[in-house]
Amino acid sequence: MTENQPLFERLAHNISAHGFSIHPNGLPKDLGNMLRNQFRQTSTSKFRKAGTGRHGDFKVNATIRRDEILWIDDTSEAGAAWLMWMAAMRDFLNQRLFLGLSSFESHFAHYRKGDFYRKHEDAFRGEGNRILSVVTYLNADWLATDGGELVLFPQSKEELAIKVEPKLGTFVAFLSEEFPHEVLTTHRDRLSIAGWFRLNTAVPL
Ligand code: OGA
Ligand code: MN
Repeated sequence: MTENQPLFERLAHNISAHGFSIHPNGLPKDLGNMLRNQFRQTSTSKFRKAGTGRHGDFKVNATIRRDEILWIDDTSEAGAAWLMWMAAMRDFLNQRLFLGLSSFESHFAHYRKGDFYRKHEDAFRGEGNRILSVVTYLNADWLATDGGELVLFPQSKEELAIKVEPKLGTFVAFLSEEFPHEVLTTHRDRLSIAGWFRLNTAVPL
């Protein structure tokens, strides 16, 4: 916990001041390497085409998103370590910001060359389900010319969109209802983890 303190402090501050927070090298190095290895060791056949909507509403739509995903659980050492880190973050943010975050869900996402995820929102205002979105990246040696940036669109038109390169260790968090965002077309394999903290659902972390 103590080694997380400076990051969690900045995260809490930025979320309350701006609604989002971006941390190059925010993901602890060991955890990043574990997750990267886990990702690379997992057969691509375990990944599924990502969709939009939930339950009866679920659709695969290649004009909106083209990534393939694998939900993360604690049956692998890397998955368990990641979920423990997220639990520590949740507890810190709940104490500091009274966000009332409870359950957490996250998946690996694999974008191949040419893949993207068009502008979307992770939650809809008033539904009160997904409160905080987190994204982290597992791509070593990413170049500016590789594309695949995450673009966060600000609430007011006067503010500029924020672009984040998907570099190994970069950690991003934003309020799910406040920031439409998009993944620009990637020019090489792009590995990310996307996760969401929810408010009071039946499955605690
Ligand atoms: C998502 C998402 C962003 C990224 O999966 O909902 O917005 O950079 N991912 O991978
Ligand atoms: Mn999203």
